[in-house]
Amino acid sequence: AGIVPIPEPPALPFLGNITDIDQEFPLGSFIRMADTYGEIYKLHLGSRSIVVISSQALLNEVCNEKRFSKKVSAALSEIRNGVHDGLFTATGPEEPNWGKAHRVLVPAFGPMPIHDMFDEMHDIASQLALKWARHGPSHQIQVTDDFTRLTLDTLALCAMDFRFNSFYSEELHPFIEAMGDFLVESGQRSRRTLPAFWYRKKDQKFQADIDILRKTSDDVLKERKANPSDRKDLLGAMLKGKDPKTGEGLSDSSITDNLITFLIAGHETTSGLLSFVFYQLLKHPETYQQAQKEIDEVIGTGPIKIEHMSKLPYINAVLRETLRLCATIPIIALQANEDTVIGGKYAIKGGEPILCLLAKVHLDPAVYGEDANEFVPERMLDENFDRLNKEFPNSWKPFGNGARGCIGRPFAWQEALLVMALLMQNFNFTMDDPSYHLSYKQTLTIKPKGFHMRASLRRDMI
Ligand code: HEM
Repeated sequence: AGIVPIPEPPALPFLGNITDIDQEFPLGSFIRMADTYGEIYKLHLGSRSIVVISSQALLNEVCNEKRFSKKVSAALSEIRNGVHDGLFTATGPEEPNWGKAHRVLVPAFGPMPIHDMFDEMHDIASQLALKWARHGPSHQIQVTDDFTRLTLDTLALCAMDFRFNSFYSEELHPFIEAMGDFLVESGQRSRRTLPAFWYRKKDQKFQADIDILRKTSDDVLKERKANPSDRKDLLGAMLKGKDPKTGEGLSDSSITDNLITFLIAGHETTSGLLSFVFYQLLKHPETYQQAQKEIDEVIGTGPIKIEHMSKLPYINAVLRETLRLCATIPIIALQANEDTVIGGKYAIKGGEPILCLLAKVHLDPAVYGEDANEFVPERMLDENFDRLNKEFPNSWKPFGNGARGCIGRPFAWQEALLVMALLMQNFNFTMDDPSYHLSYKQTLTIKPKGFHMRASLRRDMI
């Protein structure tokens, strides 16, 4: 009783709605359909169905971890070919390696260990600043490429004491190249339509890339085991850590799975965030000035220290507001643990994928009001942010949900704060093309496409 059908866009025989989804930018199609069909709709992809939700009210309901859980399908399940039941791609608690790695690693991402990574984060951020300083004010900065060098180098150094040295060569380290190709192919594999033999060459390359990823990590692991050190990085935590529940440590292959996982999960997400932040600041000059003012007042022209990181409320709000409008993971997938009803009237099958369209939930006018589409960092200042989360739970979810939410959040946040502080302290930025309009490149994450800027030093580098 009271059940109403979930709206469905018209579907073709056999193909269903496959042709409604843009291959290059699926997110755009999902958003357009949400504009047409509302807070919930159902699509048919061949013989599968998926439900797409885009209001805070529905997201809040499915964030209940007693009734719903993470769904690993499509590209995520292809990534399992490389990193198996690593933290991001594990299906759930029924895979014991997830629980073990989760319990061993949560303390390793706690406040003290993340503070201890500050100097190494600063090391890599300074390399970026030096590059931009040397290139001079007329150089066209490839924003996302340079932020990706930054985030990968930072992760590799903080996770396992490994230097890609991406700022010192035009060609990317073989590991990075293999990872890029592996991620793109994982996405394409999830959309294959031809018989298997057609893809033999691609499958060989896919396996070769996986081999490079695993061999690089295995070598680092072996080297550390042969030369034990007191370094407090994530590798050290995984080698020494014992799961409090089972008393067991992580196996070598689980450590490798998770080392690669951190690099995959942490680099595009954070570099996308930094790229979007600079886009938003350059589009909103008043916000830009206020952000720079905060940095000048709190840090001045001296060296940036860890203590400064907790004294930048406005920069914090700018980062939060950027992730609201430009969530770099714009969709998370959940499933009902058994057949159920959501919103009091929509029937959902157990195991059926529920795509939570964060990019649209984050614009819900019931939560954010009439200016929901505008960039207004003030609404994300601590006091307002706390009120928002109380009044509308689960309305801001760029880091995912519950136990399957982002373990790297404090890492990403410290890195983003530091990089913004260092760059804005030392440079004035301008849009390379003042008429630039935001467009997106979508892989596992989204990034601004074709966004370039210029940087001129405010004074001699610190
Ligand atoms: C999970 C976002 C940075 C490691 C997630 C999820 C989201 C997310 C949405 C949940 C995915 C899902 O439900 O399928 C972000 C954003 C970041 C960021 C927006 C930066 C701004 C990082 C960093 C690391 C990291 C720097 C590693 C150091 C992970 C891992 C998981 C995860 C391991 C899986 C956790 C689990 O299921 O146990 N992240 N992330 N992330 N993230 Fe992040």
